Parts: sequence; C-alpha cells; structure tokens
Amino acid sequence: MSDNNNTPAPEQTGKGKDGKKIVLSGIRATGNLHLGNYYGALNKFVRMQDDYDCRYFVADLHALTTHPDPKMLHENVKDILAEYLAAGLDPEKNTIYVQSDVPEISEMYLLMNMHVGIGELMRTASFKDKARKALGISAPESDSDDDGIEKQIIGNQTNQRVNAGLLTYPTLMAVDILIHHADFVPVGKDQEQHLELTRRFARRFNSFYKTPYFGEPVNFNFGDHSIKVPGLDGSGKMGKSEGNCIYLIDDEKTLRKKVMRAVTDEGPKEPNQEVSEPIRNLFTLMELVSTPDTLEHFKNAYADCSIRYGDLKKQLAEDILKVTLPIRERILDIRSNEEYLSRVVRQGAERAREVAAETLRDVRQIMGIRKI
Ligand code: ADP
Ligand code: TRP
Repeated sequence: MSDNNNTPAPEQTGKGKDGKKIVLSGIRATGNLHLGNYYGALNKFVRMQDDYDCRYFVADLHALTTHPDPKMLHENVKDILAEYLAAGLDPEKNTIYVQSDVPEISEMYLLMNMHVGIGELMRTASFKDKARKALGISAPESDSDDDGIEKQIIGNQTNQRVNAGLLTYPTLMAVDILIHHADFVPVGKDQEQHLELTRRFARRFNSFYKTPYFGEPVNFNFGDHSIKVPGLDGSGKMGKSEGNCIYLIDDEKTLRKKVMRAVTDEGPKEPNQEVSEPIRNLFTLMELVSTPDTLEHFKNAYADCSIRYGDLKKQLAEDILKVTLPIRERILDIRSNEEYLSRVVRQGAERAREVAAETLRDVRQIMGIRKI
C-alpha cells in the first residue's frame, strides 16, 4: 500500500473499538503548535475521530532527545494537551495520553532495539539533521550531497555529543505505533521516512519470529497527497526550529504583524509569469484557510499583474484568524484548568496501558522472555 492513500471507507473492518480501524499519532512536546502542525497533523486527528478508533498522545519521551529544560518540558506537555482539546479532540471519543504515562512503551522500545540496525538509523534524514545541529555542522547544499556525517559522528572528539536517544528515535516511534497495532498514522510529509522504518521493523520482527504478528501501518491523508505547510519567510517549511511559525496561540496583533511581514518579491513583470517561491507559499497557505474564490481572485490578479501584495497579506491574515482565534480562546480556557487536563490523561493512560500491556505480553512471549 502506498503512503499517499486516499481516504479508505470507514466501514472497513478493523481490530479497534466497534470493529473500527485503529489510528495512532502524537506530537513532540517541544513548544506551542503552529499552522504546520495543525494542517499536517492535528486537523487530521480531529477529522478522523468519528470514523476510527483513535489514540493520540503527547510525545514527551521523544522531546528528551533534544534536552529540554525539565520545567519547560512539563509545561509543554500541558500546552500540547490543551491544544489537542481546543482543536476539537474529544476525550470521550479518543484515547488521549502522555507517552511517559505508558511504561510498556519504554520496555518494548528496549526489546525492539534488538532488531534495529545502527546503520539504518544513522542513514535516517532526521537523525543526520539533528546530528549536524548537535555538532554545529551546516547542512549540505542538496539532499543528495553526501557530507560524510556518519564518519564525522564516529570520529567526533569534541565535547559536543550526538546522544543515542537521537539515533534510536525511530525505534521509539515504531513502538508507539506498533504497540497499538495501528492501521493509520496521520502525520505530515516529513514523517514518512519514520513510517517506512516502522513498517520495515514490523516485517523484520514477523519474519525473524516466523509469526505474522504486526501489520504495516500507513500515513493517512484526506485527499491524495501529504500536506507541507510553507513558512512565511519564503522558505519551504513552517517549523519551530525555522522560526517562521504562525502559532495557534498567537493573538490577533502578533498574527497580523507576522503575515504582513511575510517575504514577497518585486511583483510580476509580465502576464502569466511563473510564480516565485515566496508567493507560491502565500498561495499555498491561502489554499488551506481561504475560500477557493478568494484564492482564484489573487491568482488571477497575479497572472494579469494587477496584484497588490498588501491586499493579499491582509486577506490571508483575516482568513487565518478565522481559523485560529476560536481555537486560541479555547486553549486559554482549557490550559487554565489543570484539574481537567489531569483527568483527561489519567483516563487516557488507563485505556492506552490496557492495550500496551497486552501487546508487550505477546512480544515478550514471542521473543522468549517468559516466566519460569
Ligand atoms: P516542528 O517541525 O515544528 O518541530 P514537529 O516535528 O514536532 O514540528 O511536527 C509535529 C507534526 O506536525 C508532525 O506530524 C509533522 O509532520 C507535522 N508538521 C510539522 N510541520 C509541518 C509543516 N510545515 N507542514 C505539514 N506538517 C507539519
Ligand atoms: N516523530 C513525530 C514528530 O516529530 C512524533 C511522534 C513520535 C509520532 N511518535 C509518533 C507521530 C508516533 C506519530 C506516531 O512529529
């Protein structure tokens, strides 16, 4: 099955609650959620909650790979949780939990690592990126350029370290998914390599122990392609570390200011000119938040050279605010109710642990870790 699957029929039979297919996804607790997270992941979580048996978690163990301040980490977990709920995830319909509240995941991570190769982990794009950051090495010009980062990691004599948790990040992610026997994993395009590894580990486990125990989970998209939300700085991707984000929690003034400052170009010089990357990015954002008529109006104005970027940005800010402001209000409300947050994750952890314990029991049994 391909990653870019179309929406499957919800009536397909699955192993989840009421015969539904199982959906699992999570977001690292590394800061507030932005429009990239929203359209790449969270919005899909919400849209899937009625038709699937969904389990959504806050990935706090994964966040440890980049050494957050402990107090900040704890606050970030609560922020993401409040943002999940504010975006419309219903804790009665979904299992919502914090990764570290399910210790079975950590044990299965240890077991699964026995079947994962150091080489394949070192070749993962996200690992190479983070390793370069940790060692202060700039990224190669193009994705296909080989800068020999693997050798540099091994030969590294500085006091900068590339920690083993970064290397085994994909094992932990695979376990998050496989421990639930998930069918679908709604994530953005940048996570597809991790999903590919998850399927590879599942196949390897099955063939090593000669048992068809794990299925092969796939990404999920409404439509026929993965979403990549661009940044406002003319760059390809909106992301926390890129510093080019519109956050769900941004207030009206901040948000308008960010959009009005978005990078543009000098404007089209001749009719039907090819659209430059910064402007294409603004159109991509518009495609997500504005009506098709609005988008068409500005595309036509670009084509006949009558476009005014100030108007385009004003309209874009307006349409983003329509999406984010109601969510922002709910975030502030929910975030202040810690008792509620705690109740949601306690219930979620209980449900998640039930499933996780069963899978772990099977995996231990299959691998030969048995009671005497
Ligand atoms: P960030 O890149 O800001 O650190 P994460 O890596 O924590 O964000 O991503 C959390 C989820 O949001 C993942 O499913 C990821 O694919 C999705 N995501 C993040 N940024 C984008 C983006 N710009 N476009 C689409 N999806 C995104
Ligand atoms: N790696 C994902 C990210 O950076 C977060 C994540 C961890 C995840 N475990 C997962 C996503 C399991 C989906 C399923 O965004």
